[in-house]
Amino acid sequence: MAELNEIYRRARYYDVAFDRKIDGEVQFIFDLHRRRTGRPLESLLEIACGPGYHACAFAKRGVRTFGQDLRPEMIEYAREVAARNGVDVAWSAADMRDFTLPQPVDVMLNNYDSLDCLLLNEEIVAHFRRVGEHLVPDGFYLVELTHPRDCSPWGYGVYQYAGERNGTRVIIDWPVNKPSADPLTQVTEVETVLRVFENDEEHVFHDRAKERFCTAQEYSALADLSGRLRLAGAYGDFRLDQPFDNSPAARRMILIFEPTR
Ligand SMILES: C[S@@+](CC[C@H](N)C(=O)[O-])C[C@H]1O[C@@H](n2cnc3c(N)ncnc32)[C@H](O)[C@@H]1O
Repeated sequence: MAELNEIYRRARYYDVAFDRKIDGEVQFIFDLHRRRTGRPLESLLEIACGPGYHACAFAKRGVRTFGQDLRPEMIEYAREVAARNGVDVAWSAADMRDFTLPQPVDVMLNNYDSLDCLLLNEEIVAHFRRVGEHLVPDGFYLVELTHPRDCSPWGYGVYQYAGERNGTRVIIDWPVNKPSADPLTQVTEVETVLRVFENDEEHVFHDRAKERFCTAQEYSALADLSGRLRLAGAYGDFRLDQPFDNSPAARRMILIFEPTR
């Protein structure tokens, strides 16, 4: 997903359209952490958290949780929803290329294609360096992206996200152009349309943003270059028994990185 400001600054509409169900993902992360360390997961940062679905779910289960996003509107929305539900998360607006934390955490998450907002190798390396610096020695960083079979420089899927809540209906068409990536930079330009039906009115917001496609091996090489992180594993879905392969059951590219210190 790209840095789509017309969508991401309208956090409530994003939430209505996506309304993500992530209980299975959260359990997978608890299980993976237990398998890797043998101890309970105690602290976590959700990077590019959007409305903070994962952050809230971990906080509810007693994990000391931080949630960060570039868009202050997303963070304000996440803060309001969490407060309304009595969930305690330390929220802050922060850029994943240059963020900080008061202390290292066990796990960091970057879900739902948010890493592809970073377009340049240097940005990705800087980001990986930050992540490595803020993970405990046996911690891990989980990055979730669309399977490259379904979205790559050579072919971009067609998606529609729609939802309705309290009389507000939201539809996002993604993309409405035919994105074609620059074969040198692996960056593509995506156009989207957000339509909102509310109070008997329709509002339409057009957006255009860039996304970078990297393979698992490219992310692995960039992690090595950071000097702080290395690729430690990969899954094709949020299931410990689902390898990252080309079977239909492998829907996602889930990369697990660990610190090198
Ligand atoms: C597709 S949304 C995913 C939100 C959330 N992770 C989820 O699972 O629903 C991508 C998010 O990445 C955020 N983002 C984009 N560039 C960022 C950056 N450089 N640093 C931090 N967050 C960023 C956007 O503001 C947006 O909320």
